[in-house]
Amino acid sequence: MATYRLAALFMLASSAAAAQTLPGDPDQGRLLAQQSCISCHVIAPQMLQGLDDVPTFAAIARNPATTELRLRVFLQTPHRPMPNFLMSLSEIDHVISYILTLRR
Ligand code: HEC
Repeated sequence: MATYRLAALFMLASSAAAAQTLPGDPDQGRLLAQQSCISCHVIAPQMLQGLDDVPTFAAIARNPATTELRLRVFLQTPHRPMPNFLMSLSEIDHVISYILTLRR
């Protein structure tokens, strides 16, 4: 797992969003986001609802500091005011994949 993360980090760093491999399925990630994240975040560019002061998923994706590793750490760590999610590791992979596809 540690090796995999290092490899993923290397690929993200070296291929500048071009041909990056995603850890999960972005379509499933989008469905999960519709269930769990939409009450606060604007999860897709064409959507308007979402709370003020909460970063949109597109903004998170465009942030140069956003990497798969950073999203993974964030989503596995309790972080106020976000609720403490009960997402499995594969669900986290899907959501990360969805967010990363918004970068293109
Ligand atoms: C109850 C409201 C709420 C819900 C639900 C919520 N978030 Fe958030 N989220 C926030 C707020 C507020 C912030 C800004 C926190 C901060 O900047 O400290 C945030 C920040 C983030 C960030 C931060 C990124 C960064 O670059 O610092 C990510 C990633 C994120 N949310 C993902 C998700 C995902 C994925 C879900 C659904 C599984 C979700 N959030 C559900 C309120 C929410």
